[in-house]
Amino acid sequence: MEQSVILETERLFLRKFALQDVDALAAVVGDPVTMEFYPAPLDRQGTADWISRNVQRYQRDGHGLWAMVLRDSGALIGDCGCVVQEVESKNEIEVGYHVRRDLWGNGYATEAARACMEYAFTKLGATRVISMIRPENRSSRRVAEKNGMVREKTIFWRDYDHCIYASDYGQT
Ligand SMILES: CC(C)(COP(=O)(O)OP(=O)(O)OC[C@H]1O[C@@H](n2cnc3c(N)ncnc32)[C@H](O)[C@@H]1OP(=O)(O)O)[C@@H](O)C(=O)NCCC(=O)NCCS
Repeated sequence: MEQSVILETERLFLRKFALQDVDALAAVVGDPVTMEFYPAPLDRQGTADWISRNVQRYQRDGHGLWAMVLRDSGALIGDCGCVVQEVESKNEIEVGYHVRRDLWGNGYATEAARACMEYAFTKLGATRVISMIRPENRSSRRVAEKNGMVREKTIFWRDYDHCIYASDYGQT
């Protein structure tokens, strides 16, 4: 487990997912409220597929969504990470995040996303990082704003309008 830790923050660490995480992650992405802005909550198989997709991303891109773990208890409470997304024919690094619903409002997504932005700039050599957020998703927009991202424009992406929040290296 130790060698799979990617990032540490004051209260969290981010580490690579493994298939053993399926039950803990299902408590996050299987929740219908948490997945309001996605096509549907994920069942156990969908959660396992989510983990597999991210393991493939680690191998292909060197990064992906990582498990968000509380340092105090070792509990997996969500995910956050850097994902390659093709947006308007250009590859971008997106910082994405999900937190178990009973823990919303404690600043965990903001703390993890900020660390991922820094990681993208300093370790991945990114000059720009984005988050794509549905306009109705006010808490996610707030996370981006708290981390100094700027709303650039709205695009139609994967069947829905998405606000592009972006930050350039050295901007925040
Ligand atoms: C978005 C999400 C990850 C935020 O996680 P979190 O750990 O609660 O985030 P934080 O505590 O760091 O910050 C949330 C902010 O949104 C604010 N917020 C929450 N609900 C809100 C609402 N309905 N309207 C406006 N702001 C809201 C909180 O007050 C907080 O801001 P503040 O610190 O200024 O008070 C979490 O809500 C989640 O998992 N949502 C579902 C998955 C998702 O949408 N992921 C993002 C996809 S783009």
